[in-house]
Amino acid sequence: MTTNNQNIELLKCEGINKWYGNLHALKDVNMSINKGEVIGLIGDNGAGKSTLIKIICGVHKLDKGSVHFEGNQVSIDNPKAAMKLGIETIHQYSTMFQEMSIARNVFIGREPKKFGLNFLGLLDEKTMDHESMKAIKDVGLDLRSPHIPVKELSGGERQGVAIARSMFFKSKMLILDEPTNHLSVKETLKVLEYIQSLKNLGIGSIFISHNLYHVHEVSDRIVGMARGEKVCDMNKDETTVNDLIKLIG
Ligand SMILES: Nc1ncnc2c1ncn2[C@@H]1O[C@H](COP(=O)(O)OP(=O)(O)OP(=O)(O)O)[C@@H](O)[C@H]1O
Ligand SMILES: [Mg+2]
Repeated sequence: MTTNNQNIELLKCEGINKWYGNLHALKDVNMSINKGEVIGLIGDNGAGKSTLIKIICGVHKLDKGSVHFEGNQVSIDNPKAAMKLGIETIHQYSTMFQEMSIARNVFIGREPKKFGLNFLGLLDEKTMDHESMKAIKDVGLDLRSPHIPVKELSGGERQGVAIARSMFFKSKMLILDEPTNHLSVKETLKVLEYIQSLKNLGIGSIFISHNLYHVHEVSDRIVGMARGEKVCDMNKDETTVNDLIKLIG
């Protein structure tokens, strides 16, 4: 579904360069994303996809270039700075805390505190339990209890918790690096549905996947990378899955 938001620019990367020692991992990459737009980011192993999104979410620093968010040039020096702007990332290798409960994972780094007579901040567990379950229901997941450790969830349920977290904190942009890896067909459909539902909320998202069928299905625009360079940037309607396979495969 197209919303009015879709012509409003959310993020713009200009002339991004990144070196890992001698390896020139990103070469003058330009990319923009509008509100409510899903960008499919594709490319072979080592093309630079994760490197690009790690710059956007503050895991790595760019060596040259600039990033604009909602019209202002920003310096995203660490993941907290990205979160503060409203950029939430679900990484290729999940960053969830496996031993911790669902509720703790939803609130990680942003735990609500309640203050006792001694003014020591205590975690407000009741609020976390209640709010985390509400957020999870909102993304259509049905989990028994906020106390289940994340390691006991299926892959799809874990992605659901991560997505619920980003929606709860009203992210403006969500980056998903290979969110459907190792998921069953049913779980994958669910994740693809979540991504679609973000559009209606005006959230911009970047979806990285090697599954070109999934990319073609959910994306509005497809950006292709090869050896650190952007090699295509086109509307989904202008291309077919077969075109993408020829381009990347
Ligand atoms: N932390 C790092 N230190 C050194 N080199 C790195 C680092 N991370 C990535 N690279 C290199 O940078 C290049 C781009 O890697 P990147 O992880 O961005 O690729 P990718 O497109 O995400 O690939 P994949 O599809 O396999 O996840 C590769 O040659 C990789 O070996
Ligand atoms: Mg990667």
